[in-house]
Amino acid sequence: MTVLDQFRLDGEVALVTGAASGIGEAYAEAMAEAGADVALADIDTSGLAETAEQLRAETEAAVLSIETDVTAADDVERMVERTVDELGGLDVCFANAGISGLGNKITNVSLEDWREVNEVNLDGVFLTTREAGAVMEKQGHGRLVVTASMLSFVAEPAIGIGPYVASKGGVKQLTKQLAVELAPTVRVNAVCPGYVRTSIGHGLLTETAAESPAVEDLHDEIAGRTPLGRFAEPKELKGIALYLASEASSYCTGSTFVIDGGWTAI
Ligand SMILES: NC(=O)c1ccc[n+]([C@@H]2O[C@H](COP(=O)([O-])OP(=O)(O)OC[C@H]3O[C@@H](n4cnc5c(N)ncnc54)[C@H](O)[C@@H]3O)[C@@H](O)[C@H]2O)c1
Repeated sequence: MTVLDQFRLDGEVALVTGAASGIGEAYAEAMAEAGADVALADIDTSGLAETAEQLRAETEAAVLSIETDVTAADDVERMVERTVDELGGLDVCFANAGISGLGNKITNVSLEDWREVNEVNLDGVFLTTREAGAVMEKQGHGRLVVTASMLSFVAEPAIGIGPYVASKGGVKQLTKQLAVELAPTVRVNAVCPGYVRTSIGHGLLTETAAESPAVEDLHDEIAGRTPLGRFAEPKELKGIALYLASEASSYCTGSTFVIDGGWTAI
């Protein structure tokens, strides 16, 4: 097998949560381009339809869209069941859906807002990896990939997103616990991005939002603080996604892969 063959996913099935936009959409594209069939899950049905249409037009992949709220245990169970029944298995699962929360200083965060963020980012990853991990253990192989954050490691100085930072710290530790408990059958790793231009946070990171001077200042501050001097584009996470989903990463488990333009190097 050549090194490039190690990255192929022909005949495999990959499930991606939060696949209607941003990083999840890029992960799904990477899986389909590498030869996998893909199940796309999200609460945003119109975004799901757009991702599915694009993948069908641009790749050979069989594509299944499953409306799913990752905070609802029944939904997540059904998401995994439908993937296995309709696509014939589950080799790779990305627990990626997430939200950022409201941007309040921690002393002003309501318990309701705290719970909302942790419900999606931490409970959702728990439910997704629990259901997918059980199927993978039973079938004797599989790879789980979760989207944590560089904020699993460091605090965020400019935007008050305490619940988010705490949830991503939890996701990082959950990755390690899953990796230990599911080894050697299922490998489990985390992608930890820096700032990526997606619609997270009600579009705060988009170029359109930067038309407002206050947001433009924030973007300049973020870019200026980043050694590579800019935000990432979602497609810049496709390589790490494919690495962790494929045989190329066969000796990796319980690891965190920081893709942050150098932010945490300082
Ligand atoms: N954009 C960044 O700068 C950045 C940085 C580090 C980590 N991340 C993480 O990447 C992941 C993807 O975020 P993104 O930046 O692509 O944002 P995004 O808003 O473009 O995508 C998130 C997707 O998750 C979906 N979603 C939200 N709640 C859901 C729920 N309850 N059930 C199912 N789907 C739900 C949304 O509909 C959306 O399609 C998140 O976990 C996020 O925390 C993002």
